[in-house]
Amino acid sequence: MVKEKIQGALTRNNFVTAYRRIWPYAKPYWFRALLALLIAIPVGALDAVIAMFLKPYTDKVLFDLNATYIYKIPLAVVGFTVVQGILLYASAYLNAWLGSKISTNIGRDLYKKLLTLEPAYFDKTTSGHVVQRFCTDAFTASNTLITNLRMFISKVFSSIALIAVLFYNSWQLSLIAVAALLFAFAPLRYVRRKMKGVVTKSVVVNANAVTANNETFSGNKIIAGYNLQDYQNKKYDGIMDNTFNLSVKMVQYTNWLSPLMHIVLSVGIAGVIAYSSYLIMHGYITRGNFVSFLAAMFLLYTPIKTVGNNIIDIEKAILAIERIFEIFGLSAGITDKAGAKTISSIKKNIKFEGVTFEYAPDKPVLKDINLTVPVGQTVAFVGNSGGGKSTLVNLIPRFYDVQRGAVLIDGVNVKDITLKSLRSHMAVVFQDNFLFSGTIRENITLGNLDAAEEEIVNAVRNAHLADFIAGLPDGLDTVIGERGTTLSGGQKQRVAIARAFVRNASVVILDEATSALDNKSEAVVQKAIDNLMKNRTVFVIAHRLSTVQNADKIVVINEGRIVEAGSHAELLKNAGGPYHILYHAQFKDK
Ligand SMILES: Nc1ncnc2c1ncn2[C@@H]1O[C@H](COP(=O)(O)OP(=O)(O)OP(=O)(O)O)[C@@H](O)[C@H]1O
Ligand SMILES: [Mg+2]
Repeated sequence: MVKEKIQGALTRNNFVTAYRRIWPYAKPYWFRALLALLIAIPVGALDAVIAMFLKPYTDKVLFDLNATYIYKIPLAVVGFTVVQGILLYASAYLNAWLGSKISTNIGRDLYKKLLTLEPAYFDKTTSGHVVQRFCTDAFTASNTLITNLRMFISKVFSSIALIAVLFYNSWQLSLIAVAALLFAFAPLRYVRRKMKGVVTKSVVVNANAVTANNETFSGNKIIAGYNLQDYQNKKYDGIMDNTFNLSVKMVQYTNWLSPLMHIVLSVGIAGVIAYSSYLIMHGYITRGNFVSFLAAMFLLYTPIKTVGNNIIDIEKAILAIERIFEIFGLSAGITDKAGAKTISSIKKNIKFEGVTFEYAPDKPVLKDINLTVPVGQTVAFVGNSGGGKSTLVNLIPRFYDVQRGAVLIDGVNVKDITLKSLRSHMAVVFQDNFLFSGTIRENITLGNLDAAEEEIVNAVRNAHLADFIAGLPDGLDTVIGERGTTLSGGQKQRVAIARAFVRNASVVILDEATSALDNKSEAVVQKAIDNLMKNRTVFVIAHRLSTVQNADKIVVINEGRIVEAGSHAELLKNAGGPYHILYHAQFKDK
């Protein structure tokens, strides 16, 4: 009881919030949860049995030499302990089952949530922070909380039973024992406060370590090519130094707690021993009372001495839950509006109307863009690097939302169209196309999971991948490494083009889709892309102007503004104009 009150007062708010958050995950399994907790009660209470038996044993066997108890009491002790052991196993099993169930379900929900978040979230979050939430937080949170709840319940009942044994044997000695207990718990609040800061910092440091590891994978060639090993090592050393310092700090803050408790409790034990001789001599208690009391007191005190470690675990779990729910609490900025429409096709045009966009407040990357692209036309964007071309086309599938103005499809704001139907009409090919670990076939069919074999074969042919794939021993089923590392840059792009082909979307967005190709393959892929462009609305970005000359309209974007627009022939007439300058810069020696 005493223990429950003290711990409750110290940690109630965080505790309750943490359990309240976990509860929806435990609810479907409430029966098992209840069973695990119910079993924890006798497991705790049975601790008192041994202590209880020591009184009759001491008084009857050791002093009265009553033979009937010699075997009965040890046998009863073993019997009860076996029962306790079996119950302990059952409750530990249920506990582990429940913990894993909850942590895997949290993991599932976290991943689901992650997929709803827009590119802006991934732009500003490092992979380490996210990976940590998945790999450790979910598990730490649920397992520690459940284990501790079970242990807590079990210890509360064990404490109640043991304190009952104490009072049964001697209320005078009990007062000393309980007072020592209260003193031992006094510094807990202080320790918890100190610890919180350290735990929070160490989470950040751990996440940095994970990010550094991830970057070693993605950037291994840059690291090797620029001899960055020493630089990376230094960076990692710094992270490890921080980790070490924080661990030491944690020890400094918490490890004095156990020895201190040990000392305080020993003073209690000493007081009990000293006082007991007086009580025994004056006949207030029997020798058996004393032995039984001492045993109960030791059983009560022992687990308490390790409370420092439990507190660290619980604190970590509570913070882990806070971090997990921080992700759950993120509201996806780009979602379907209530009553959003589905569009079955795009009939007239795609229009940018006074579009202003900024990634960071007050730093507009696109300024008052007005442009109408009728269906079936190809519009090409050219212009200075960093001018805003990629940003502009990213607004069509709503990877980002505009701050002012609107992107309209057949007059409907893209914000009023369901994301699913909006994106179902679009295929995108980027410069650094992401390929997933798996086979070439899998990567192509990601464009359309229902694609028939014939469509896949056509896509492969149209993307000019047929020869390459024919030369592979496993053909389409060849496994490519993580991020497609076993393919050349051009091959990756062609897989991405094939992926866009099977999508068979009416809008195609090509952002530097041919930039990784040499002139010869570019000509070949250009033909493929020409196929892809047929009867579709195409937004194409290319630095090489040769690839965009046939576009219906070429739009020159510099510093976030449309500075010129028209067909290749029209734009070239404007001698000294932005396109004219770009064109001659590229073709001056041809
Ligand atoms: N995710 C992002 N977060 C913040 N700023 C960004 C982001 N992406 C691009 N920017 C900034 O927006 C501006 C426009 O970038 P954008 O990628 O649209 O240019 P671009 O015309 O496609 O250039 P390039 O021809 O080099 O591909 C740049 O100044 C860039 O630094
Ligand atoms: Mg770009």
